[in-house]
Amino acid sequence: MADTDADRLLGVFEENRFLKAEVMRLRKELERFQRPPLVIAEVKEVFDSGKVVVKIPNGSEFLVEVSKSCGALTPGDFVALEQKNLIVVQKLGKLSKFAVERFVIIEKPKVGWRDIGGLNEQIREIREVVELPLKNPKLFRKIGITPPKGILLYGPPGTGKTLLAKSMASSTKAVFIEIVASELVQKFIGEGAKLVKEIFSLAREKAPAIIFIDELDAIAAQRVELGTSGEREVNRTFMQLLAEIDGFDPLGDVKIIGATNRIDVLDPAILRPGRLDRLIHVPLPDGKGRADIFKIHTRKMPLREVDLNQLAKLTEGFSGADIKAVCTEAGYFAIRGKRNYVSMDDFFKAIKKVRREESSEGYKEMFG
Ligand SMILES: Nc1ncnc2c1ncn2[C@@H]1O[C@H](COP(=O)(O)OP(=O)(O)OP(=O)(O)O)[C@@H](O)[C@H]1O
Ligand SMILES: [Mg+2]
Repeated sequence: MADTDADRLLGVFEENRFLKAEVMRLRKELERFQRPPLVIAEVKEVFDSGKVVVKIPNGSEFLVEVSKSCGALTPGDFVALEQKNLIVVQKLGKLSKFAVERFVIIEKPKVGWRDIGGLNEQIREIREVVELPLKNPKLFRKIGITPPKGILLYGPPGTGKTLLAKSMASSTKAVFIEIVASELVQKFIGEGAKLVKEIFSLAREKAPAIIFIDELDAIAAQRVELGTSGEREVNRTFMQLLAEIDGFDPLGDVKIIGATNRIDVLDPAILRPGRLDRLIHVPLPDGKGRADIFKIHTRKMPLREVDLNQLAKLTEGFSGADIKAVCTEAGYFAIRGKRNYVSMDDFFKAIKKVRREESSEGYKEMFG
């Protein structure tokens, strides 16, 4: 009996100890919650006296004391200040501001119009809509029309949409800002809308500029419901994009090119007049186009008795990207055969291979 009493007592002590620890933990937590939020500021100047000048987000600057626990500060550091007397209590390090320039690609692409096979009509149209108003806005004022602010390239995968946008960039003096919409929402969760805003202000700053938004459907797809926070976030990003497009001048020197292979899912809001209202279809190449594309991608290949027109006939339904793959594969067959030239037979095998990769059924009967 006594044994069980002692056990029970021990149990109670144990429980008491546990509860006390819990109370301590909660008290600390409560203390943390009651502490007023800290102010974030940037260090502007550091004096020998140990005092520093900080700039808080509203722009005001203060000369403040630094708590010993912070360690050495240098201008450009971000710090946390206590609200009441603005003492620096914590060093946050170099919080590089939301550096939009790190997330977008700003460069002169190396491809040009001559690297595009077929698509002559599309090239003409893009140049007219994007290049001409950037180069000669006066012309439009004189005639009294406003050019579209942006265009949308749409069509099946691998047909040269990205290629067209890049060639556009290298043929003008405009700065080319490229963003991939799917990355915008996947990598920068919670920041999409802000990023869109910064991209447009970056474009205005660097103008003349072309903003290229690839895989536009990732942010501009029509959604029936906005259930998850992810969907709401994408929607916010999209709304910001619409606002930015609406906010700039069609005769100014920023143009937008969007690209998608899912025009069917796009929210019509993005296509409304005054937005990306010039649609340019980029279809699969026809026979002539395929021959052109073969010519481009075999430019540097040592061919022997290769009939590109015949290859074009054999590749009905292939995209530009497929044709490029055929050329690469043909080259591999030549290397495997230890030859220093590429033959028609290499191309036949390559076509078969690429076709098989595309769809395992259907074509087999045709090619065995
Ligand atoms: N018309 C073309 N002329 C020459 N090469 C082409 C053409 N179309 C596609 N290619 C080749 O295929 C590659 C992929 O094309 P691109 O990235 O432009 O396709 P896309 O239309 O943007 O496809 P997606 O819809 O999948 O983004 C190009 O880098 C190029 O090598
Ligand atoms: Mg593309």
